Amino acid sequence: MRTTVGIIGAGPAGLLLARLLRNAGIDAVVLEVRDRAHVERRQRAGILEQGTVDALRAAGAGARMDREGLRHDGIELRFDRRRHRVDFPALTGGRSVTVYPQTEICKDLIALHLEGGGPLLFGAEALAVEGADTGRPRVRFRHEGREDVLECAYVAGCDGFRGVSRGAVPAGIGRTFEQRYPFGWLGILAEVPPSHDELVYARHDRGFALLSMRSPAVSRLYLQVPEGTDAREWSEERIWRELERRFETADGWTLRRGPVTQKSVTSVRSYVHEPMRHGRLFLAGDAAHVVPPTGAKGLNLAVGDAVTLARALAHERETGSAALLDAYSATCLRRVWQAERFSCDMTTLLHRAPDATAFEDRLQLARLERVTSSRAAGTDLAEAYTGFPLE
Ligand code: APR
Ligand code: PHB
Repeated sequence: MRTTVGIIGAGPAGLLLARLLRNAGIDAVVLEVRDRAHVERRQRAGILEQGTVDALRAAGAGARMDREGLRHDGIELRFDRRRHRVDFPALTGGRSVTVYPQTEICKDLIALHLEGGGPLLFGAEALAVEGADTGRPRVRFRHEGREDVLECAYVAGCDGFRGVSRGAVPAGIGRTFEQRYPFGWLGILAEVPPSHDELVYARHDRGFALLSMRSPAVSRLYLQVPEGTDAREWSEERIWRELERRFETADGWTLRRGPVTQKSVTSVRSYVHEPMRHGRLFLAGDAAHVVPPTGAKGLNLAVGDAVTLARALAHERETGSAALLDAYSATCLRRVWQAERFSCDMTTLLHRAPDATAFEDRLQLARLERVTSSRAAGTDLAEAYTGFPLE
């Protein structure tokens, strides 16, 4: 099999890249190890920066997002049983975010891709990227029990944090930066209208909690739990009781309960692989970087990488110049590190480390007081949350 761009992974990065390349008349083949139902069900945050909304629209993938996405003009920060709203448009000169689940973005992009007859192979596991630093890179993969080779001009490694493509960068060339946090997130989906019309980020002595949503009828809620927690240790009753305690306010706010339809634990980590390119292999999205989920930047970074890479490949096709491809890694990494900084700040602002000292607790509360009372500090958070424009 032969193509111009071999794309490994059909998450948001790979799917959007495939769409953008098709629009630019560049052929691509997408290899995805999981089946379609799995990709379309995977629960991930869907907080879209304006740049992400614009990119999906420009790719011709924004129709349902425009109908069903919800504009959010703020978030609530909750601590000491008090509620504080961060008003995005007021602090940033009009910016906001759109809530549209990542599962729906993937469904929309898959449908468009298959409608266009684009080759997207589900159940196709990339085994290795070979010859990345030669003129003819190849992806070895297994599909329907047979091994095959995809010969490409370029390979896009969009296979997430646990994919194989990052491994094709020799250890002496790549450098990784990593930070672990001593906690994870227990997330649930519940069939109950969200108890608040905006997201609530709560800092509590017992740990962080987050109220989010997937639709007007479905809530998404998270609890900070110790690293290594098994979701089975948490019964529905235990989860709701803990959420109620962490969200409790002095003004009698109540949390609506409903049937839990999904429950899982996600890890919290910061990770960056530099550079995001090796020869003709380009890493995009979680394959190159992971942010802690506080602030929901992962999807936005994946979209930014896909847009930057598609633009660079189209530029090379039109002009013969590899200048944008050469700049790809540095261009993406500037945004990545801003997102790492913000996500790390949000995480330490709101979570309680298991060994936190009384001094650290007081400092954390002072930081929260500052963010919610100073226009300058509030603006810093609001600007980063709503996102910086793509370069
Ligand atoms: N061969 C083929 N496909 C693979 C392989 C492989 N060896 N390994 C992984 N994949 C697939 C996964 O099954 C997944 O569908 O690559 C895809 C990677 O998708 P994501 O993990 O969604 O990564 P990305 O597209 O970069 O999107 C990042 O996902 O984790 C969230 O918060 C993050 O929102 C962000 C988004
Ligand atoms: C989510 O809805 O899953 C979500 C929202 C905001 C975050 C993280 C996750 O910061």
